[in-house]
Amino acid sequence: MIGDIKMTSLKFIKAENYEELSKIGAAFFVQQLNEKPASVLGLATGGTPEGLYKQLVTSYKQGEVSFENAVTFNLDEYTGITEDNAASYHHYMAENLFKHVNIQASNINLPKGNVADPEASTVAYEALIAQAGGIDLQLLGIGVNGHIGFNEPHTPFTATTTIIELTPSTREANQIYFDKLEDVPTHAITMGIKTILNAKKIVLVMSGESKRKAFEQLRSGKVSEDFPASALHLHEDVTVIYTDID
Ligand code: PGA
Repeated sequence: MIGDIKMTSLKFIKAENYEELSKIGAAFFVQQLNEKPASVLGLATGGTPEGLYKQLVTSYKQGEVSFENAVTFNLDEYTGITEDNAASYHHYMAENLFKHVNIQASNINLPKGNVADPEASTVAYEALIAQAGGIDLQLLGIGVNGHIGFNEPHTPFTATTTIIELTPSTREANQIYFDKLEDVPTHAITMGIKTILNAKKIVLVMSGESKRKAFEQLRSGKVSEDFPASALHLHEDVTVIYTDID
């Protein structure tokens, strides 16, 4: 039930191309860290943010930004695969960002999908985010079905970190990171929509024709749990950076 809620307007930035999208997105993080070196960053995985992370590594190497005091929380992780699996988000983050910058290992947080009691780890993850003071800047991608994090359609907007069953379309989209479809985990642990909306500022990156339908749904302004990203209309500071869509 959405009811009487305050609608805000998302800011849309059209980038000329993927490189520009990556630069604009990275600039949000550089500015955030320069204004507040101990920022709490919410991070995302997937193909779209790869260029943004490359830009951040370049900025770090050029001395434009430091991660020394940054604290990070990733959106999600698969359940049932080990952290050293090449398709895990632990592995993705190490390869795309963490091993190239001066972040302290103790300041890196990802949901733990490969533990005896994943349910307990959802509660622990929420507590860790709260202890860190909440997320200052959250990066998001978006699924073809409008998922943010791994919050698939019909996830309640009130959900906090949770275990979720992946939809067939998500498993198919992510098959490229695995040898075969059967290897793609059926479940993941993800920050909930409420967790995401608690971030002070949000940047969503989206690129390419496959995201056209999601782009149009997001632009329409309609808020519905059928389309998880529409929850972002309830937040006051969201910027959508997009390219190669319209
Ligand atoms: P993509 O994934 O950037 O690889 O398209 C986005 C997502 O599924 O959230």
